[in-house]
Amino acid sequence: APSATMPASDSKQNGDIHRDYNDDRNATSEDTLYTSANGAPYPHPYEAQRVGENGPLLLQDFHLIDLISHFDRERIPERVVHAKGGGAHGYYQTTEPMDDLSMADMFKAGKKCPVSVRFSTVGGESGSHDCARDPRGFSIKFRTEEGNWDMVANNTPAFFLRDPAKFPHFIHTQKRDPQTHLTHADDSTMFWDYLSQNPESVHQVMILMGDRGIPLGKMHGYAGHTMKLVNKKGDWVYAQMHMKSKQGTDFITQADSANYSPDYAQKDLHNAIEKGDYPGWDVCWQIMTPKEAEELWEKEKINIFDLTHVWPQKQFPLRKVGEFFLNENVKNYFAEIEQIAFNPAHLVPGIEPSADPVLQSRLFSYPDTHRHRIGVNYQQLPVNAPRVPYRMANFQRDGNMAFLNQGSRAPYLSSISPIQFRERSTDLDKVHSHFIGGAITFLSEIRPEDFNAPRILWEKVFDDGAKERFINNVSGHMSTCRKEDIIKRQIAIFREVSGDLAARLEKATGVKGHESIANMTFNGTHNGFAKDASK
Ligand code: HEM
Repeated sequence: APSATMPASDSKQNGDIHRDYNDDRNATSEDTLYTSANGAPYPHPYEAQRVGENGPLLLQDFHLIDLISHFDRERIPERVVHAKGGGAHGYYQTTEPMDDLSMADMFKAGKKCPVSVRFSTVGGESGSHDCARDPRGFSIKFRTEEGNWDMVANNTPAFFLRDPAKFPHFIHTQKRDPQTHLTHADDSTMFWDYLSQNPESVHQVMILMGDRGIPLGKMHGYAGHTMKLVNKKGDWVYAQMHMKSKQGTDFITQADSANYSPDYAQKDLHNAIEKGDYPGWDVCWQIMTPKEAEELWEKEKINIFDLTHVWPQKQFPLRKVGEFFLNENVKNYFAEIEQIAFNPAHLVPGIEPSADPVLQSRLFSYPDTHRHRIGVNYQQLPVNAPRVPYRMANFQRDGNMAFLNQGSRAPYLSSISPIQFRERSTDLDKVHSHFIGGAITFLSEIRPEDFNAPRILWEKVFDDGAKERFINNVSGHMSTCRKEDIIKRQIAIFREVSGDLAARLEKATGVKGHESIANMTFNGTHNGFAKDASK
């Protein structure tokens, strides 16, 4: 299996003065010499130059200043969301070619490529608990022969919102209170205030507060967003990617979570790989033609650009195309996990984004945050650098830490020493000229269809025990909500899911919820239930 995720050193591109990253990654203490960062040997790390025996330290002592000033700058900003995470490296292999649907090189028969994967929680800081009730991030960097393709996914198929403008608002309610600096574990007022004003979140809230809210190591992954797969002829389909855990899934209850250490998931992954017990996932796709997408909207009012909904699996079964395994622990957490930069806009020919507005916003957000968090040349860092069989050339130059700056190659489109271009692989007009008219509605309108999937969860998926745990989880969490009206509103939203659910929650919280959402107004959502909704 291909391993070692670092780019092989390219002496022609890097020049001899650049050090070999694999060598750095595999650093040991054998045959080493202690030096300051400019390479000058020093006899001992604890030496400091001072005036006499008890005098002040000297400014000329670069060795000490270099050490301390570098230490002062060790931290980079943590990720604004998904700050707590761990990961590993491995490989992907195609088991069933999918070149009928996508021209992506990695989907051809027999293809293999290295991958790096990062798992995370969402709301907590870098040191927060792995067993938090929270969705889990599941990001994969496929290092294909046509560039890096990042799948930046979660462990749940649905999401809290379908309007990207709500994301910063929503996330702020998952973080600390600006005054008390408490999280929603101690004060859940902001948390429920947001959700009770944005009822389209209810599907994901049912998952979060149910048994799937605290995964224990083993989990599936879901792109959530609709993507487009494009083949050589320019024909395309809508597609949803699923990563099916070969280990199955495992979840724990709220009470159980107290029994696990804060870094449990990280330790579990590391130890499994050390033991040779390599975790693996099947890569599967659901496929839908543009016509089927329109029919789904007509018949079931499922908008495939709406991340709060999922594609019915009976109608759109999973097609397995490949699998990946994690078989290599990182050597250096900071270099290989903290600096790794996933980005839904890192796509390769044959995989395109759909018009889903949340996905479209993410295409902007991730590279933007990487430039802030890591720097403008974040893609040159060893863990992010593409490993392609051709020599990359473009017109990006300079900036902080430009250590691959393309030598003397012309920094403009030169006629004197032209670079090579690949022929356009498909008919772009065919790929980009079609959008579903009817499926694009006011993003934030709440409609009866929004409650169908949550209702199935309550009525068909949750058994008696799961229902009881759900009620306990929600009422326990609501016990720190300081405003009763927020609870009344949220109960009304749950009543649209099921009268039984609402009644049980009323009993558990001691709060009588509003009767119906029909007369409620929301500060973030047009109420499609109101009498004048059609106006
Ligand atoms: C991380 C923005 C929705 C999955 C992040 C980060 C930002 C962000 C800024 C930090 C990235 C970094 O510093 O490296 C957004 C915005 C969203 C959105 C603006 C909606 C408008 C989603 C959705 C999913 C998702 C819908 C999953 C389907 C992830 C994952 C990470 C992440 C897995 C962690 C990446 C890693 O492991 O480094 N998001 N996000 N996000 N997001 Fe989102």
